[in-house]
Parts: sequence; structure tokens; C-alpha cells
Amino acid sequence: MNLKNRNFVSINDFTREEQLYILSLAQEFEKQPVRNILESRVVATLFFEPSTRTRLSFESAVSHLGGKIIGFSDASSSSISKGETLKDTIKIVSNYCDLIVMRHYLEGAARYASEISVVPIINAGDGANQHPTQTMLDMYSIYKTQGTLENLKILMVGDLKYGRTVHSLLMAMSQFKTTFFFVSPRELMMPEEYKLHLQKLNLSYYEHTDLNEFINEADIIYMTRVQKERFSDPLEYEKTKNVYILRSEMLKNTKPNMRILHPLPRVNEIDVEVDEHEKAYYFAQAQNGLYVRQAIIASVLGVI
Ligand code: CP
Repeated sequence: MNLKNRNFVSINDFTREEQLYILSLAQEFEKQPVRNILESRVVATLFFEPSTRTRLSFESAVSHLGGKIIGFSDASSSSISKGETLKDTIKIVSNYCDLIVMRHYLEGAARYASEISVVPIINAGDGANQHPTQTMLDMYSIYKTQGTLENLKILMVGDLKYGRTVHSLLMAMSQFKTTFFFVSPRELMMPEEYKLHLQKLNLSYYEHTDLNEFINEADIIYMTRVQKERFSDPLEYEKTKNVYILRSEMLKNTKPNMRILHPLPRVNEIDVEVDEHEKAYYFAQAQNGLYVRQAIIASVLGVI
């Protein structure tokens, strides 16, 4: 399969078959993550918003494959702070590298960049819209823990309005006959456009404000942080930030195969004692990001 020079801005940019191909490549990179296949290749990481996992796992992925990194983790150290536009920044940087990985606070910024850039753009998160590489590592984690992607029951908890990871995960998993349970405060419910998408596919989804309502039915519990940075009203954030806290005692009647995922960072929504529970998978999930991002980089650069 040839994915060379393709942008990865939305999870929908890759077909189901292409996504499964990336997951199969990730399995190979997990077996052998150190390979010298990016010699003389340069990857730019442009992060206009903070990140730990996404930026560092991309940079680690490139380093393990023998490539070089340029870029910034804080746009205030770039000429954006002097008033340079995103358009000019992308035009310039795309002449210095073979691939751009970009996180931006504006929805649609990655798509806009892909229309300007002469090299492929990988979206590392654009506002509350999408985080497609996170979704690929979430799918990889689901496959590894469940042995399949088909016919699963996924409980999404927390900030379903602003959480970009749940938006792209819903789009991806809707290809595999998933049943969705949405648990959120009323202010942070899953946006209508995503529910309409499920309705069009005749997929079942259920909404509730009580976390205990569906917890024992789920194969995957996908916890999310309330996205403080997206709130215009700090009081709204204060009202919703600690509504759901997953604790060990809540897991006693959950399915044996159930695993807890979280894109991280966590604030309060998973009690730290859950970290030792056999069903906690979120730290392994973050590690999976390395292999999945190696698979994406190698595919887009055509070095597979
Ligand atoms: N999951 C995720 O995107 O984490 P970072 O914000 O640390 O990159």
C-alpha cells in the first residue's frame, strides 16, 4: 500500500484499509523500533500548543529511525511572536524539511497548512476538532487488548464536547460496528454532528450523566480530561472539572476483558490508585504511540 506524500489531517483522510495497514506496520515497529531508514530525512515539529506525549513520541520515533528533528515546542520562540502568519511560517518551514507535524489551537489549522505546504502535514491536534495520530494509537491499544476492533462497546467519559480525541476515535471506530456509551455533564455532551454520523450508519449510542450507568457493559472505558483551555468562562470549567473520578471500587463488576484508556494528561479524572489495577492500560497506551507514529512517518515518507 502506498501512502507516500499523503497528509494526515483528519482520521477520514485514511480509509479503513489504510488505517489497518498502519496498525499492522506498527506491530512490526513494536518488534523492532530501532532502524536506520530516515537517514538524511528532516521532520519539523511545530507545536503552537503544549504537549508531552505527542511531540516527544514523534521526536523519539524519528530519532529511533535515524532522522533529524527541527522545530519549536513554544511558538513564542518563533517569528510568529513578531507577527509572522501561519501561512508564511508553513511556506518557509516546508522548504527546510520532508514532513511537518503540527499542533495548533485553531480548528482547521492543519488542513489550512496542508494547502500551503510542499511537504506532507500530520495533524498533532487542531483545537477541539481532531487528533488523528492519537486515534491510531488508541485503535492499536484497543486491538492489542481486545484482539479485535469489531463489535465492541466503548464508554467515553468526560469532556465529549471539546475533547478532540473522542471525536476522531468515534469516527474511526464507527467503521467497526461499535456501540457507544457517552457519559458527560450536560454542558459537555458529544456534539450533534457526531451523533448524526452514528445515526446515518445505524449504530447505537446511549447518553447519560451517571458514570455507573454503563460501566459494567463496556469493553473499553475511555476517560478524558475536561479541556480547561477551551472554556471561555472559567466558572463553567470549575463546575465540570471534577464531575467524574474513576476509582478502583467502581471496577469490581466490570467485564474481565475491559481496559481503561485515557489519552492523557490526566488531572483528577482517574484516581492514582487505579494505576495499579490490572485493567488500567493508559501508560501502555502512551507507549504504543511510539510504534504507531513510526508507522505513520515511515508510510508518509515512503520509506517502507
Ligand atoms: N495525548 C496527548 O495528546 O498528550 P499531549 O498533549 O501530552 O501531547
